Amino acid sequence: MKSPNVVWHHGEVTRDMREKLNGHKGIVLWFTGLSGSGKSTLAHAVEARLYEQGAHTFVIDGDNVRHGLCADLDFSDAGRVENIRRVAEVAGLFVQAGIITLTAFISPFRSDRERARSLLGEDFVEIFCSAPLEVCESRDVKGLYKRARSGEIPAFTGISSPYEPPEHPELEVDTANLPLEASVDRVMDYLSYRGIIAS
Ligand SMILES: Nc1ncnc2c1ncn2[C@@H]1O[C@H](COP(=O)(O)OP(=O)(O)OP(=O)(O)O)[C@@H](O)[C@H]1O
Ligand SMILES: [Mg+2]
Repeated sequence: MKSPNVVWHHGEVTRDMREKLNGHKGIVLWFTGLSGSGKSTLAHAVEARLYEQGAHTFVIDGDNVRHGLCADLDFSDAGRVENIRRVAEVAGLFVQAGIITLTAFISPFRSDRERARSLLGEDFVEIFCSAPLEVCESRDVKGLYKRARSGEIPAFTGISSPYEPPEHPELEVDTANLPLEASVDRVMDYLSYRGIIAS
């Protein structure tokens, strides 16, 4: 609960100044898709490409924040909503720092992603990793689908909990069929088109 005695302190160094220093703009690339659709793989590969070009980046990855920032949250609907809210807030801080921020969360609920969008405005870029359930399940990178099918994991997205695909994502990447490097190219092209990085 926000206290009425908390007053925003404006700094002297602005986002615009940080972006000039960095040589590119800040943005949030919000990767969404089923478990195993390639969010983490793609986000880290894009980050590596950007790093090679001298860009300032950071990946906020689902599993990692659950170890710290969101360690107190469960996978209930309320837990997922709060998880995404915190991530959007943190991503917003990174953007203010002028950083190209990549988030890799299943973020299955449209309403949560829309909340992140309304918080971040034009800084929010929704990237749908569209590999379908059959492909993700056949990959089963973490062995979670097998465990979910046997009833060991309750409310597993795609099996016993819904995934609501984006209706109008800024970018849809066919991570079932495209090779990884081609997927990275699509994201990089988008960043150039938006003027986030120089083309
Ligand atoms: N074009 C592609 N983009 C991304 N990943 C791909 C692509 N093609 C194949 N893959 C493979 O798909 C798998 C995706 O796994 P990854 O852990 O990135 O998924 P995830 O969406 O982050 O899942 P989770 O929500 O469980 O963290 C990897 O084994 C990766 O090598
Ligand atoms: Mg991942």
